[in-house]
Amino acid sequence: MSTAHPRAAGAPEPPLAVLLEVTHRCPLQCPYCSNPLALERASAELETADWQRVIDQAAALGALQVHFSGGEPMSRKDLVPLVRHATQRQLYTNLITSAVLLDEVRLGELKDAGLEHVQISFQDTQAQGADHIAGLAGAHQRKLEAARLVKAAGLALTLNFVIHRHNAERAAAMVALGAALGAGRIEMAHTQYYGWGLRNRDALLPSRAQLDAVTAVVEAARTEHQGRLVIDYVVPDYYAHRPKACMSGWGRRFMNISPSGRALPCHAAETLPGMDFPSVREHSLQDIWYESPAFQRFRGTQWMPDPCRSCERRELDWGGCRCQAFALTGDAARTDPACALSADHPLMAAAVRAAAGPPPPFAYRRYSEASAR
Ligand code: SF4
Ligand code: FES
Repeated sequence: MSTAHPRAAGAPEPPLAVLLEVTHRCPLQCPYCSNPLALERASAELETADWQRVIDQAAALGALQVHFSGGEPMSRKDLVPLVRHATQRQLYTNLITSAVLLDEVRLGELKDAGLEHVQISFQDTQAQGADHIAGLAGAHQRKLEAARLVKAAGLALTLNFVIHRHNAERAAAMVALGAALGAGRIEMAHTQYYGWGLRNRDALLPSRAQLDAVTAVVEAARTEHQGRLVIDYVVPDYYAHRPKACMSGWGRRFMNISPSGRALPCHAAETLPGMDFPSVREHSLQDIWYESPAFQRFRGTQWMPDPCRSCERRELDWGGCRCQAFALTGDAARTDPACALSADHPLMAAAVRAAAGPPPPFAYRRYSEASAR
């Protein structure tokens, strides 16, 4: 029986999914991490009962899915009861994980709790390169073993690859690995440059030739694996003429909850200055979604400046990404520089030129010094 709250006439649709960033703790140190530069401490994380209340409110609001994410969600000792709670609220449950902490016992517990889908992030198809990116020796092998366990348990499996200049040549091998592991879906997403990723942009941004080669691989693979393997492909904004519809539009389909309980329209929203993101400790998801100034700030088209305001694509891409606009121009309300119609579009070409030389070494997060522990 649905407990969804009735929606007032003219109000936005309820969110499709609520992403629970249950922790920022993570055993990996990927240089393209899109989490904030300042991570939240374990001591600041919501308690189990808080997350259960959030799950109740997500179901009441009309969301269909909850995604357990992080950081590494397996770092939370209460992940199994949280998954069970979401299952009891008839929400579709997805675990987004590095999988290095996922063994047969914990997977069995998660399956018994009702977990339906596991998304495993892979850094590469070769152990040496993958472990170098992850900053953890042996990580790739553990991921392979975890993926086989997920399939053996009968759960849906997606492989996530983040593509950059150091692994773009292995795009075909990524597809082959996904097919060999029995994945139903592969996400091949070029790096997005927020958070720690922006700091490593010159080390990660692929060349135009690399991008074109990956795109050709994806198109051929989609034909070859049609009906068996879905390949989602996200191109890098830095070579685009039009932006992506980030989060399908601000406050339209998704809500993120940070480890300490801040409700965000996207994972990078806390980078935006002057925004007051409400806490689930003090407000219900219902009030946050429908009433909070933060979720209304860039929702729809009313906030848009020119050229978006009069553009025929304004309800297709919703003006692109607010966090990218802020990261590159210092103003979250400007048109996303990924759009060729933006006066800031030359910033993208300048970044490509800056990254054209030999790649600098990665800057890794230092977790031992970071606030996450
Ligand atoms: Fe999208 Fe705005 Fe560019 Fe039009 S002008 S394509 S709405 S970002
Ligand atoms: Fe925040 Fe795109 S990542 S709006």
